Amino acid sequence: MAENGAKRIRLGMVGGGTGAFIGYVHRIAARLDGDYDLVAGALSSRPEVAKESGKNLGLAEDRIYTSYEEMAKAEAARPDGIEAVSIVTPNHMHFGPTKAFLEAGIHVICDKPITSTLEDARKLLEIQPKNGAKFLLTHNYTGYPLIRQARELVASGALGTLRVVQAEYAQDWLTEAVEQSGTAKGAEWRTDPARSGAGGAIGDIGTHAYNLLRFVTGLKTEAVSADLTAFVPGRQLDDNVHIMLRFQGGAKGMLWASQVAVGKENGLQLRIYGDKGGLEWSQENPNYMWFTEFGKPRQLLTRGGSISVPPAASMNVRIPSGHPEGYLEAFATLYSQFASVIRGEGGDAEGLLPTIADGIEGMQFITASVQSSKNDSKWTRFSDV
Ligand SMILES: NC(=O)c1ccc[n+]([C@@H]2O[C@H](COP(=O)([O-])OP(=O)(O)OC[C@H]3O[C@@H](n4cnc5c(N)ncnc54)[C@H](O)[C@@H]3O)[C@@H](O)[C@H]2O)c1
Repeated sequence: MAENGAKRIRLGMVGGGTGAFIGYVHRIAARLDGDYDLVAGALSSRPEVAKESGKNLGLAEDRIYTSYEEMAKAEAARPDGIEAVSIVTPNHMHFGPTKAFLEAGIHVICDKPITSTLEDARKLLEIQPKNGAKFLLTHNYTGYPLIRQARELVASGALGTLRVVQAEYAQDWLTEAVEQSGTAKGAEWRTDPARSGAGGAIGDIGTHAYNLLRFVTGLKTEAVSADLTAFVPGRQLDDNVHIMLRFQGGAKGMLWASQVAVGKENGLQLRIYGDKGGLEWSQENPNYMWFTEFGKPRQLLTRGGSISVPPAASMNVRIPSGHPEGYLEAFATLYSQFASVIRGEGGDAEGLLPTIADGIEGMQFITASVQSSKNDSKWTRFSDV
């Protein structure tokens, strides 16, 4: 049973075998509120690793698969088959599994970016999901309670008319050519256009920063002017991007994403300024957010803390303020709310969860930025890509 007494959802996983990064996080997120049971997997591109990983996770032998196609077919045919699947493979391996499982009537939870090309992302809209199968894109940072609260504060007009948005996501783990030395798992496919897509850092972490600013502000992007750089010799994809954004209505934005910013770990930060107030939030300290009404003292808002918490923000605040919640809980919030969508429990979860449309917009952001950068940072409209 889940924490709320509901029946657990039978879950499968594609990718996430031994040694993989995000599959492990997805498994924790799926377990946190007891909403899912992992019962099947095609966990690796290498058959022997897929088998070994499935065994280690305690999956029944006949539900450990060596291809996602086989898994979609076999699971859809079983009376006790999976009801949902998590897709945690490199970017070029998102489209195929998403299509196969949606067409088999199995709900899909897919990591970002949604695909490796804008064309594939748009093709997802042509899929006819069987039995109303649904889709969730794990832009997990939208699950932080204070991010939900920031969104509500902006929507309530507390910041007035938005003027300036600064978003950044900076890391340092690709400072050296680790993809050539083989010392950092995950670096190899991330720097390979065939598997990552046309974007490097912009796709890997820039899309998170972009999605976050869109989620919180609701601003619609008109155009970008981008400067993408691969600082590390021999690297084919960007490891640092500077992007200016123009929004409908006149607000302006800047987005910096870098994987060569020495000393930065997971420096995702969002700052928003309107004509009445401002907000500042950083994911490495996610239980706090600065809110300032112009002309008044700065206020430190806390998760579930000192000011009245609007209903959507209080959702999935699991423990009292002052006890830190973080990355895993925010990730789990997406899983738990998707479980309530799958069960048809209503509520406003569905409006908060990232969708195929958000995924397509993320790919537009990458595509327009890559195009702009190739044209000496020429302003490039989303409507032109
Ligand atoms: N939401 C986040 O915060 C976040 C963080 C990291 C990665 N990601 C995304 O998650 C995805 C995976 O990233 P990662 O860091 O875990 O990569 P990883 O290289 O650590 O793991 C990828 C896994 O996919 C498996 N795989 C590859 N092809 C497969 C296939 N055809 N069938 C089955 N398994 C296959 C690999 O064997 C490996 O187990 C990427 O799309 C990445 O952008 C998201």
